Amino acid sequence: MNPLTVTIDGPAGVGKSTVARSLAARLGIPYLNSGALYRAVAWKVSKRGIKPNDEAAVIDLCKQTEFVLVGPDNDQSVVIDGTRLTHELWTPHVSLVASEVSRLPSVRAFLRPIQRQCGNNQGVVAEGRDMGTHVFVDAEVKVFLDASPTVRARRRFRELQSRDAAVSWERTASELTERDNRDTTRYAAPLRPSPDATMIDTSDLSASQVVDAILALIRQEQARPQVEPTPPVDTTKRTQSSY
Ligand code: DC
Repeated sequence: MNPLTVTIDGPAGVGKSTVARSLAARLGIPYLNSGALYRAVAWKVSKRGIKPNDEAAVIDLCKQTEFVLVGPDNDQSVVIDGTRLTHELWTPHVSLVASEVSRLPSVRAFLRPIQRQCGNNQGVVAEGRDMGTHVFVDAEVKVFLDASPTVRARRRFRELQSRDAAVSWERTASELTERDNRDTTRYAAPLRPSPDATMIDTSDLSASQVVDAILALIRQEQARPQVEPTPPVDTTKRTQSSY
């Protein structure tokens, strides 16, 4: 059987990381947190004092950076230029800068092959904003998670607290709205469901209920008879009588 690729897209705070991590562990395949890569770019951009909308300078910086994804055992973090980044990636400032650098088409194109490498050989559970629409377009199972803005703000607040980020509830809620707006209206790979994704509203579901729902989709997909591609018709062999 081919390695399994599952994409989980959706807005901030919807619970993608919790679900994707737990699903990957249940399936015994790698987990990709693509947002961590955008956050790592944002962290370095801020550290160097580069403006996040200066595309030439940001892409130049990316090209001089070595990105290594670490995980999934200890949650996924990114090592850039030998420095392992964990809680630094989750500050409110890095969240906002990540949202800004992720608008740049050249940055998205630069990070795409790094993300695809995670899907090689063993399969992957990939979470982000454009996993199903751009990065893993041939994924066997695509899911788009959504939830009401209040539920998402609450989840994001808890997640940030668990990552030791110093945050307030008001700030978390207002930044979530701001990021939603940016992520859905940007020109390059805006956040939207792939037409072949299954939508799951997680507002009233626990993380394990969402994982179970995705496992059911995977079983359904794997039980589907595989259709052999039809060989191309060789028109040179047609005689007149065949018409
Ligand atoms: O999932 P996250 O909150 O850690 O993502 C941080 C930012 O990165 C988010 O504002 C949008 C961007 N992002 C993206 O544009 N595409 C992805 N596949 C993942 C994240």
